[in-house]
Parts: sequence; structure tokens; C-alpha cells
Amino acid sequence: MKKVAVIGSGTMGNGIAHIFAQHGFVVSLIDISEEALGKGLSAISRNLDRMVTKGTLSEMQKEETLKNITTLTSMEEGVREADLVVEAATENEALKLKIFSQLSDLAKPSAILASNTSSISITKIASVTNRPDKVIGMHFMNPVPVMKLVEIIRGYSTSDAVTTTIEDLSRLLGKVPTSCQDYPGFVANRILMPMINEAIYALYEGVAGVEEIDTIMKLGMAHPMGPLQLADFIGLDVCLSILRVLHDGFGNPKYAPCPLLVNMVQAGHKGAKSGQGFYAWGHGTKDLIVADRFKK
Ligand code: CAA
Repeated sequence: MKKVAVIGSGTMGNGIAHIFAQHGFVVSLIDISEEALGKGLSAISRNLDRMVTKGTLSEMQKEETLKNITTLTSMEEGVREADLVVEAATENEALKLKIFSQLSDLAKPSAILASNTSSISITKIASVTNRPDKVIGMHFMNPVPVMKLVEIIRGYSTSDAVTTTIEDLSRLLGKVPTSCQDYPGFVANRILMPMINEAIYALYEGVAGVEEIDTIMKLGMAHPMGPLQLADFIGLDVCLSILRVLHDGFGNPKYAPCPLLVNMVQAGHKGAKSGQGFYAWGHGTKDLIVADRFKK
């Protein structure tokens, strides 16, 4: 496997393109606009610079990594020769189904089609393609260059051979592949999202403030980020949509999203990417500043 196409140049897509290119793969990074591609490429370059500064990558390796990436706005051209396509578009079911039905015609018959979805059914995505045995979930964690896990999701029809290929490939990228079956939220988000939702409920019910909840979980459980900071980092809209997938998929009220989360998303307070969430973002300091709304 040499050629990889990555669809979507946002945070996850550019991270995925980065690690494949760093490990010598020829990468086509595809998005709908030159502007989005430009932003994606700048993020890759910045993250490579971090590694050069840390001494974990040489300047030459950085240049080679960048040379391995071609950006394109045409999906047809970008996926034609790919051995593997990794889709990392917006977390929207209708959009993903449209992309996979197009990939079914555009990618060569032997190509494996992977999705980085955090919660949408791989079996459903596979059902719109002509090769459900070659469709698989390859769920990277943010930030992709740092996080070791790749959650591998086997759809109902994913073959053993394809699963093994993707597990081996993830190891080649320096990651630890861990496989699971295709049920709502898979494993990572089935466990993470109820914790985040419970933290939001604790805030909503006035059990404690933002800082207290995050400090208790950071220092008490040795989590690198508290659940509210992590929710802001992931995106509150993404957390809400994953909770809805869990709620709908299991029909169990324990997954019902906290009304405060619903309100925040409706108000456009989506976390770090929107500048406001449980914290205020974009103030150019590493210190966490609680959003005005939640200040005591
Ligand atoms: N690219 C490359 N390197 C990066 C990076 C990036 N985008 N972001 C951070 N780093 C590196 C830094 O250079 C630094 O490297 P060294 O350890 O060699 O010094 C290291 O990562 C730590 O970074 P910082 O010192 O800047 O900051 P930090 O210590 O606060 O760590 C963090 C940042 C790695 C993000 C850490 O806070 C963390 O692990 N947070 C939790 C992340 C997490 O849980 N991710 C999963 C989210 S869920 C998900 O992705 C899936 C889903 O479906 C919702």
C-alpha cells in the first residue's frame, strides 16, 4: 500500500494526512476549496515545526513529509489511484453517505474505503458502496500526530483480511490499533460521551463550577484535560451529535444530552472552534479562562 487519499482537510483530516506523509506514503489531501486546503496544509506545517523544535523530526524529514502531500479539490482525480481512502469530512451522515456512494464508483475496485467517523454506523456507510467487505472505521484521536490510538471499527460485512491490513497499517504509522464491533458510539465515545454529559449535568445542577469539575477529574483521575475542557476541545456540537447517536441507537434515556449542552450548541457556543464554550478561547495564552457565563 503506497497511495492514500484523505478526504477533508480539517483538524482530523490534516492530522491523518500528516502522519501518513511522515511515514512515507504518497498522500492526496482533498477538500472542496483551495482555502480549506491552504488552512489544512498550514496546520500540518505548524505541527511539523513543533516536532522539529522538539528534535523528534529533522528539517529534512519535515520537507520530505510536505513533499509527499498533494492537495486537490477534485475527488475524482484524488482517489483514482489510491490504495486506501480515509474519509474525514464533517460528521454528517447524509454527507458521508454521499461521499461513499461516489467513492464506490471513483476508487479502484481493490481500494479499501475507511471512515474516521466518531459515531456514524460503518455498516450503514458500507451499504451505499459496491464493496461492503472493504469498508472499515479508522477512528483517529485528536491531536492525530500525538495520540497513539486508532479505534478500528468492523462493519457487519468488513472482511478479516481488510481488518488485518488496516491494523498492520496503523502499526506502521506508530499507532496502537484496537478493534471493536460496529455498535452506537463504538467503544471510545460510548464511554467518553456519558462522562462528558455527566460533567455538564453536574455543572447544570450546580453541584460544582467549571474549574472544580475539571480540576477534580484532572488531578483525581490523572486525565490530561478535564471533561469540560475536553468537550470544548472536541466541539460541543460534535459531543451533542454523538450523544444523539447513542440515545437513538440504544433507546436508553441514560444517553439523553444535558439541556445545557443543547442550549449552548443552539446559541453557537461550540467550544474552542467558536471561541466560546465552558471556557473562553482565542486569548493567546495557555491559561484556561472560564467563560463569563460560568464565572462565579
Ligand atoms: N501536532 C503535533 N504535536 C502536538 C500537537 C499537534 N497537533 N498538539 C500537541 N502536540 C505535542 C506538543 O508538541 C507536545 O510534545 P512534547 O510532549 O514532545 O513536548 C505534546 O504534544 C503536549 O503538548 P503541549 O505541551 O502543547 O500541551 P499539553 O501537555 O497540554 O498536551 C494534549 C496537549 C496532547 C492535547 C493533551 O492535553 C491531551 O492529551 N489531551 C487529551 C486529548 C484527548 O483526549 N483526545 C481525544 C479526544 S476524543 C477524539 O479525538 C475522538 C472523538 O471521536 C471525539
